[in-house]
Amino acid sequence: MKNKLLTAFACAALCTAGSLSAQTPIYLDDSQPIEARVQDALGRLTLEEKVALCHAYGKFASAGVPRLGIPELWWSDGPHGVRAEINWNDWGYSNQTNDSTTAFPALTCLAATWNPEMSAKYGKAIGEEAVYRGKDVLLGPGVNIYRTPLNGRNFEYMGEDPYLASVMCVPYIQEVQKNGVAVSVKHYALNNQELWRDHIDVYASDRALYEIYLPAFKAAVQKGGAWTVMGAYNKFRGQHCCHNELLLNKILKGDWGFDGVVVTDWGGAHDTYEAAVNGLDVEMGSYTNGLTSESEFGYNDYYLADPYLKMLKEGKVPLSTVDEKVTRILRLVFRTAMNRQKPYGSLCTDEHYAVAREIGDEGIVLLKNDPVTKKGNPLLPIDASKYERILVVGDNAVRLLNEGGGSSELKVKDMVSPLDGLRELYGDKVQYAHGYLAGRPMYGQVEEVPQAVVDSLRDEAVAMAREADLVILVGGLNKNHHQDCEGGDRIDFGLPFGQDELIEALQAVNPNLVLVLLTGNAVDMPWLDKVPAIVQGWYLGSMGGKSLADVLGGAVCPSGKLPFSFPKKLTDCPAHAFDSMAYPGDSIKEEYKEDILVGYRWYDTKEIPALFPFGYGLSYTSFEYGKPVISAKKMEADGTLTLSVAVKNTGSVAGKEIVQLYVGDEKCSLLRPQKELKHFDKILLQPGEEKTVTFTITPDDLKFYDDRVGRWVAEPGKFKLYVGASSTDIRGTATFELL
Ligand code: GLC
Repeated sequence: MKNKLLTAFACAALCTAGSLSAQTPIYLDDSQPIEARVQDALGRLTLEEKVALCHAYGKFASAGVPRLGIPELWWSDGPHGVRAEINWNDWGYSNQTNDSTTAFPALTCLAATWNPEMSAKYGKAIGEEAVYRGKDVLLGPGVNIYRTPLNGRNFEYMGEDPYLASVMCVPYIQEVQKNGVAVSVKHYALNNQELWRDHIDVYASDRALYEIYLPAFKAAVQKGGAWTVMGAYNKFRGQHCCHNELLLNKILKGDWGFDGVVVTDWGGAHDTYEAAVNGLDVEMGSYTNGLTSESEFGYNDYYLADPYLKMLKEGKVPLSTVDEKVTRILRLVFRTAMNRQKPYGSLCTDEHYAVAREIGDEGIVLLKNDPVTKKGNPLLPIDASKYERILVVGDNAVRLLNEGGGSSELKVKDMVSPLDGLRELYGDKVQYAHGYLAGRPMYGQVEEVPQAVVDSLRDEAVAMAREADLVILVGGLNKNHHQDCEGGDRIDFGLPFGQDELIEALQAVNPNLVLVLLTGNAVDMPWLDKVPAIVQGWYLGSMGGKSLADVLGGAVCPSGKLPFSFPKKLTDCPAHAFDSMAYPGDSIKEEYKEDILVGYRWYDTKEIPALFPFGYGLSYTSFEYGKPVISAKKMEADGTLTLSVAVKNTGSVAGKEIVQLYVGDEKCSLLRPQKELKHFDKILLQPGEEKTVTFTITPDDLKFYDDRVGRWVAEPGKFKLYVGASSTDIRGTATFELL
């Protein structure tokens, strides 16, 4: 008896000493392992509370359990920054004054850096802004493969190559989640266009699925540790991706071991039974057409709300389905909303602006930089001492490109436009002419510009160009509907709003023309031979004007390389090389007829030269590659070998070079692309400096997905290693035999 009394007193003493009281439930005890907290919380929930956790109860909020002190989860766009607050129950902005954020460069720009360090910096900064804004889930990154230059949302993704996208998404994910904010890797999967996005039924082979469209998602889950994955709107092989047995249960949760939450794209759920049994965990945004209208349905009418509860109570779906969902949802809650270890974050800091600027600096791609005259120097970097009048032209020189584009749009605190950046650098040498007008960013519609306005703006710019020493035209697309925007694909491959005519007219009166394209896609370039200097500038975010000035002015040596190919004409593109079933489909179904030959895999294998190839980008210096040296001429099936190559900066300024390693299977029982990117390394070299880059080739680098046996295999035989400065600029090769 005495001992029991002593124990009771000791326990009481301990409790009063401020540590956890004996009756503190495990799920509320931070010191407990998450899985123990999950199981404890699960056991305390009623069926109704469990179902409530599985769907939205606000436009961007899913329910918690007030009775148990489990908070709601806050979900927020997007991949390039934390979106402004949206009203509780409609798509309007709530116009708060405390939700302006940093607009980071679009993910195509991040991919174009080919620098995983930039990805880590990006994730850390955007994660700090998300946790500061009280968000539990950040709806990004997008890693859908760039299959056609007409896809309205390519600017949100990481290009045409699954390996590049796989490498570049992982650090972003890891660093965001270190802030106690989950990512939501999207849109899983095969969401490669916006036209008919909410229902188009995609058919692609197992090889295309596993070799092209899934790898970046697999890396995001298995290497990045993503805590949520967003199902895509479209269908795959007849089933909506948001409740797709193959994609969610078999591959994502089964093969890959994903332990997080599958959330719909907003409005991506279409069936209660499928949602119950095919791997969906949280339903958001139903009964809306995506962004503009809301039906009269309430949140309790969601597929995973009352209809689901009814099926559970009637035994039409196993109770185990809701416990499986809620286990994942609670795991997410304890990783985020109820994670008391997470930092407080920060917003619009100098550090974040510096990250945005650095990513822009490293992602800008120099496409062309020829001397205007045979004996002259290239126009870039700009030598301001040579010019008195620098004319900047273009709507995109002043346009706030953080707006538009759909759900990834942002309200910014600061936004340095290209004109601002160039004026900061060149002062009153800079004059400005609008040159062309793009109309306001309006979701789902395009504001036409009267021809009279087009003509007068062009004539005004041409007149000023005649008097200028240098002309910098900042054009491109503009994140309007049909112009790099969610909800619609581009309808033309060319530049809009009379830009082609403007380019020709400006060049005719002043050959010293620098063209800066701000786009998330390849565009047609009928004027290519006439324009001496061309820069692919991406959507650069809050510090875009500074990044452009850094590169155009030479403070930064351009080092970005294209994450996707620029075709000479649209029909050269594999998705457009077949019939309309290959793109955009017949509004019901679509067949990816190019199969595994996406991007450079098509151009190089079919020997169709791209206008600018995957992995291409110029510098203000030059690099010389030595002869590649491999460590062996034969490789065991479970062995490795290394390839080393010396790279030297043979120019006069420091620069970074992206050394790319492609692998070609010289003899395979199935079709394989001529070569596939399997390694890359970005190195800084001072003038005259030489470094040796070494890659380790593993069996995984040699494998293809053999759909005859349903697994990855590497067939013995001869392989060729290509060391390239781009997918076509091959500086050396080496061959070996796989035993
Ligand atoms: C949109 C987009 C998705 C976004 C979500 C919430 O329709 O497809 O990327 O995160 O809905 O806005």
